[in-house]
Amino acid sequence: MASVPSLASTVQQRLADALSASLPEAGSADPLLRRSDRADFQANGILALAKKLKGNPRELADKVVAAIPDNDVLKEIEVSGPGFLNITVTDEAIVRTLAARAADDRLGVPHSADAGTTVIDYAQPNVAKEMHVGHLRSAVIGAAMVEILEFTGEKVIRRHHIGDWGTQFGMLIQYLIEHPHELDHQGGEVSGEEAMSSLNRLYKASRTVFDSDEEFKARSRDRVVALQSGDEETLALWQKFVDESKIYFYSVFGKLDMEINDPDVVGESGYNDMLDETCRLLEESGVAVRSEGALCVFFDDVKGPDGNPTPLIVKKSNGGYGYAATDLSAIRDRVQNLAADTLLYVVDARQSLHFKMVFETARRAGWLNDKVDAVQLAFGTVLGKDGKPFKTREGETVRLVDLLDEAVDRATAVVREKAKDLTEAEIAERGAQVGIGAVKYADLSTSASRDYKFDLDQMVSLNGDTSVYIQYAHARIKSIFGKAGGIEPVAHPELELAPAERALGLHLDRFGETVAEAAASFEPHKLAAYLYQLSSLFTTFYDQCPVVKPAPPREVAENRLFIADLTARTLHQGMALLGIRTPERL
Ligand code: ARG
Repeated sequence: MASVPSLASTVQQRLADALSASLPEAGSADPLLRRSDRADFQANGILALAKKLKGNPRELADKVVAAIPDNDVLKEIEVSGPGFLNITVTDEAIVRTLAARAADDRLGVPHSADAGTTVIDYAQPNVAKEMHVGHLRSAVIGAAMVEILEFTGEKVIRRHHIGDWGTQFGMLIQYLIEHPHELDHQGGEVSGEEAMSSLNRLYKASRTVFDSDEEFKARSRDRVVALQSGDEETLALWQKFVDESKIYFYSVFGKLDMEINDPDVVGESGYNDMLDETCRLLEESGVAVRSEGALCVFFDDVKGPDGNPTPLIVKKSNGGYGYAATDLSAIRDRVQNLAADTLLYVVDARQSLHFKMVFETARRAGWLNDKVDAVQLAFGTVLGKDGKPFKTREGETVRLVDLLDEAVDRATAVVREKAKDLTEAEIAERGAQVGIGAVKYADLSTSASRDYKFDLDQMVSLNGDTSVYIQYAHARIKSIFGKAGGIEPVAHPELELAPAERALGLHLDRFGETVAEAAASFEPHKLAAYLYQLSSLFTTFYDQCPVVKPAPPREVAENRLFIADLTARTLHQGMALLGIRTPERL
């Protein structure tokens, strides 16, 4: 494992050295390097420096350029405009850097210097309830963040904070006690669909009785108390609901081609033993106060429409604990027992106020301090084609499974049309990889905080910013290898590069920086944008730089094949970080 400095960082270093050699009075000034369309890079740092030193920026720039020793990385440095540096690197430096990347399993991407422990809360559906598109977003974005963070060397602990606790279980369990065989299945394995439909049936049936029968309602309330106080029979039935739901959850996660491990499923119930203490500590420290019988935390800047403060309720007046008490206990567990230095919550933006209040409460209580970052990676709403929150024609929330099935169907049709020589089994396999990839990519390619339109036609389109486009670019590279008969990928740093080769090469070199950025800012869409651009740069390269026909000189063909191969590996690695497959053939 050898990490490879990017050309940008090499250039940045050379310039910084030249700056401090030629202008010692500048101290360690930042050359402010960035990518540029005019040259490979542009450095703007001299402008600010000139202001500080009260000098002429162009003269200072000339001095800096003169202080750069002969080297084989920087080909041309032009002082332009008021004192920018336009920098072009040598073709040789590009190919050598790429060769170093190709020699490494991690494509030369370094581990982060300040890696720590992140506890990530994502993929958190609710027991006895259908999963919807909101759960899709949390799962998809969360899984991508897990991969991206782990790739940078971060220790990642996953927590699936499923909704498995609360008053609704009183009703469900009571109904099951009174109708004991409702969750029994006849023989054989239960499918996710079957599990969910029996839960749905039970939910509806118990709701009907609950709403119409006061005595049942009272028995259900007592059942909640029995559950919270740990009554064994009640807990055993509760467990049945959880297990049945997990069959369903796992089947959906399976469809999503996503690995969820049972020990990481620590739902709301997992913090039950801590709730009392959490409330006691809050009350003793004065962070929470009694108000109208409830235990509440108040905030100066959180007010309801009537102008009165809206508190965070940690314990209700009837003694029940809610969502907030659980989340506060989870913070204590994650910081104190799991030693997290980052808490990341991949949760719908509509819960932002909840998290703002929970984090602030935890800070006041001292459970969060300067050493721990608590962040909600808040995501927007999934909209239908009409721009309104995604609903069925009948106005119901769309079942996630139906959506996924439809995406796979559409993608399978696209695959079938394109690849005439695939077997039915291959078509089905690729169809699933393309369809699920399309759904994930559509979610990951826009900034998470924005709402996005769920438009299957657009998602499985071969043109434009889609995963299919990227998957095709990848498969096309693989097919070149089939046709290249005997030519092997070999880097040739001595060759002059065509513009499309340079552009592709420079972009390949930015992979590590992109991953680091996506990890640091919790923005997987930056990686998606990078991969899309990589694919389109490859498409241009493929048009302009033939490998096989018309045949270029052998070294040129080898070098192109080498660049193409590194492109395929980078696409594969990048898509894997997003949780998307890159089939060898499509
Ligand atoms: N189960 C919740 C829902 O479906 C999401 C849980 C989010 N995580 C948390 N720690 N509160 O909306």
